[in-house]
Amino acid sequence: MRIVLVGPPGAGKGTQAAFLAKNLSIPHISTGDLFRANISQNTELGLRAKSFMDDGKLVPDEITVGMAKDRMQQPDAAGGFLLDGFPRNVSQAEALDAMLKDAGMKLDAVLDLEVAEDEVVKRIAGRRICRNDSAHVFHETYTPPKVPGVCDTCGGELYQRSDDSEATVRTRLEVYHTQTEPIIDYYKAQGLLVTISALGEVKDVTRRAMDALKK
Ligand code: AP5
Ligand code: ZN
Repeated sequence: MRIVLVGPPGAGKGTQAAFLAKNLSIPHISTGDLFRANISQNTELGLRAKSFMDDGKLVPDEITVGMAKDRMQQPDAAGGFLLDGFPRNVSQAEALDAMLKDAGMKLDAVLDLEVAEDEVVKRIAGRRICRNDSAHVFHETYTPPKVPGVCDTCGGELYQRSDDSEATVRTRLEVYHTQTEPIIDYYKAQGLLVTISALGEVKDVTRRAMDALKK
């Protein structure tokens, strides 16, 4: 299956993607994670992306689209993938369509995670991520690790993302409304959009998502 996950920052895209990718046996491709890996490895691409991310703005398409395409062309993605954080504006959605068309492929579904803004602000404020693996995501109060600051899964150190500050989150939400939300109508027009509520426990949201994707 080829699936796109959409939703505001903090909706739980990364959290759900980890479970959905496992259940569906497809790789989880997160452009945010790819950028963060490049930044921690001090690559040229990471250096170019960092200032945009720190400001909560979109990294320019000429950097993002090539990186996403390269990742989707890796052998593990040949049978399908779950995109998280890409596309993030209509021109990225058009670039993805063109790329899939050239390869004789198409998307199966676009899963839209719906959450109220006050809840995403709370989710982001309490988020803690493992330094060893970005799929190990916790929340200080909702899904706390057994030992504060330590990952339950691998014992790694938990940290708070630099773009999770209150001011940057405000910009990220604004960018979501103005630049990313238009892709919802774009995919609705293609008959691909599936919207679910992302409220409630993580496992309940996963079940809701799996049920919606089966239809
Ligand atoms: P990116 O990394 O994609 O961030 P985002 O879209 O802002 O999304 P988040 O990672 O903040 O949230 P999430 O929805 O994954 O939530 P999570 O599962 O962690 O992008 C970062 C930046 O990179 C962008 O601002 C941009 O600069 C750049 N970028 C990336 N892609 C780009 C692109 N295509 N084009 C241009 N620029 C791009 O959950 C949040 C918290 O809530 C966690 O603590 C979690 O434990 C908790 N939680 C999750 N589910 C639940 C639940 N059901 N109940 C309670 N708590 C929950
Ligand atoms: Zn870990």
